[in-house]
Formats: sequence, C-alpha cells, structure tokens
Amino acid sequence: MSRSKRKWDHIRLALATGQERKAGFEDITFIHQSLPNISLEQVKLDTRIGELSVSSPIFINAMTGGGGDRTKEINRDLAMAAKELEMAISVGSQMSALKDPTEVESYQVIRQAYPNGIIIGNLGSEATIDQAKTAVEMIEANALQIHLNVVQELTMPEGDRNFCSALKRIEDIVKSLSVPIIVKEVGFGMNKETVTKLLSIGVSAVDVGGFGGTNFAKIENNRRESAFSFFNDWGIPTTVSIAEAKAAGRGVSVIGSGGVQNSLDIAKAIALGADAVGVAGYFLKILMKERVEALVKELHLIHGEIAMMMTALGARNILELQQVPIIISGNTHHWLSERSIDTKQYSQR
Ligand code: FNR
Repeated sequence: MSRSKRKWDHIRLALATGQERKAGFEDITFIHQSLPNISLEQVKLDTRIGELSVSSPIFINAMTGGGGDRTKEINRDLAMAAKELEMAISVGSQMSALKDPTEVESYQVIRQAYPNGIIIGNLGSEATIDQAKTAVEMIEANALQIHLNVVQELTMPEGDRNFCSALKRIEDIVKSLSVPIIVKEVGFGMNKETVTKLLSIGVSAVDVGGFGGTNFAKIENNRRESAFSFFNDWGIPTTVSIAEAKAAGRGVSVIGSGGVQNSLDIAKAIALGADAVGVAGYFLKILMKERVEALVKELHLIHGEIAMMMTALGARNILELQQVPIIISGNTHHWLSERSIDTKQYSQR
C-alpha cells in the first residue's frame, strides 16, 4: 500500500471510528469558588509550549500531509483556522515528503497560509538527524514533534517491528537541532518513567497523547485482515497521563492531548498540569463534516468558554488555572493511587 493512500485511509477511518469518551475527564471536578475576586476582562489565555510563547492554550495537533491534493487542502484549511485564532499548529508526519518530494507542498501550504504562525514539524522516532533538519527547514518549523507510536506500528499491517534505540536517536536529534523537540504519543498515553527518560536526554516538552479519543489501534485494525483486538482498549487515559508526566519532575512542559472535545476538557487538562492542550480528531471532524468556517466558529466559542470558566474559578491566567483545586475520582483516582501519585496535592492547594 502506498504511503499516500494510507494517509487518506487514516483520515477516513479516524472519522469513521470517531472519538471515544474514555480519556478520564469525567473523573475531574472543579471545586466551585463563590468569591473568585476577578473580572472576565482580566483573564489572559497566553501560555508556553516548552520554550515557545503562544497566545492560545489550544493547538491543532499533528494530522496530515503527504496524501496529495486532498491532504494539502485539509492542511491549508487547518492553517487558516489556526491563523484566525493565533494558535499553534502541527503538521502530520513529514516522512512522506522526505521519501517523495512531490508531497512537500502538502506540508508547506501551512507555512504559506500562516506565514508568522507557530508551526510544529512532525516525524517518527525512526528519523535521523538529517531527516529531522530537513523536516524543520521544509516548513520553517518553530519546533519539531517526534512521535512514539509503538502500538500503532504493531497493529499496522506494514508497520515497524523493531523499536530499539529510539531514545538514542531522539537524544541525537535534541543535541543537533536548534529548535525545541516535543516528544509525543498518538493516543496511547505516556507514563512517568518514559517522561523521566526523555527528561534525562534533554527533552523539555512532552505531549502525552493519551488514550480515550482517536484510537489508532482501532484505525489500524480496520486495515488488517485479522484484528489485534487486544490493542483496542490499550493505553493510559489522558487525565492519568498528564498527572504521570507532571510527576516526572518540574523541568518538563506537559502538553495534554487525547480525546479532548470541548472547553471543559481543556480546562480540566490544564488544571491537571498541562501547559497547553492539543486537539486532533475533534477538529478534523468539524472541518470535514462542516467546513473551515464552522471550525473557526467553534474555536472562538471554546476560547470564550475557557475564559468564562477561568472567571468562575478566579484564575487570571493559565499558570493560575494550573493551580486551582480539583477533585480526582473514579478510575483516574484509582490509577494514580496505585502509581503512588498523590491526588491530595490537587484537592488541597
Ligand atoms: C493523527 N495523529 C498523528 N500524530 C503524529 O504524531 N503524526 C501523524 O502523522 C499523525 N497522523 C494523524 C492522522 C489523523 C487523521 C489523526 C486523527 C491523528 C495523532 C494525533 O496527533 C493525536 O495524537 C491523536 O489523534 C490523539 O488526539 P485526538 O485525536 O484524540 O485529539
């Protein structure tokens, strides 16, 4: 199967399998404040993704490129929506364009549509230093995501089977590139120990890519003759994974993502410790089912709603939202207790 065909299969199957509501957000409750002592106009939404300053806490996460004109159009629309709200945006894996130069423009369209934007490149952990440099130059990327997707590869009929030395390759890239490196999962989540290993090689930002939203085991199982159904419920829910990543240490900038579908999910991810929140499948669905105008409308709505919630909570900025008290219950509480991650630090601050 050609890479270009696979890109389109991923979009089609992501829309068909949809978003699961299993990311754990129902386990998080804000503690209501009757005296927030704040006015809506004081609320500011700017934040940092690792070393990058961004004006929105939400960004469009890696999805596509490399599938000819259809993926070029999607990327142009996503870039236009990101520009309207001054949000950061990631491109999908650029390996297709490294293998086939005719695909380069399906990625560069994002830089053309959003010349001053914060645009993040994307490659897998099999990438070499030279490939990483070329990917950054291709779109004048402000940062590079390296994705970890072991379960997706194993489920993919034509996927990788050898995952040795990924950490070493990432370390080489971190040391050789001038832009920040963000290591991300793709919907299976990251645990504390993984984040600790990444910190030890100089990675300063991780995107947890938690379980509970777009499900790449199900997507790839749809492309197999006999399904690896044991991977369908595999992964660390997003809420758990954000807390796991934060528990790895203060030095890490955490991006919360995986199954984020509304402003409340975003506020909860930030209260768990995320500096910013990435959304992929939910935005893709709006774009493909409605149009770019509908996506822009939704993005305005979400930003307005986050500001409303921050007002109710008395949080003037994202740093203060990260400190509001929350109650963690259910499966998320159980998981964190088993992993000796203290949930009272969230409820009694
Ligand atoms: C993705 N995702 C992804 N991630 C990545 O690092 N490189 C990639 O090329 C892609 N490709 C891709 C295609 C499509 C169609 C979707 C929907 C997603 C994964 C994405 O960035 C994200 O980590 C997961 O989708 C989980 O987030 P959501 O979709 O639940 O918000």
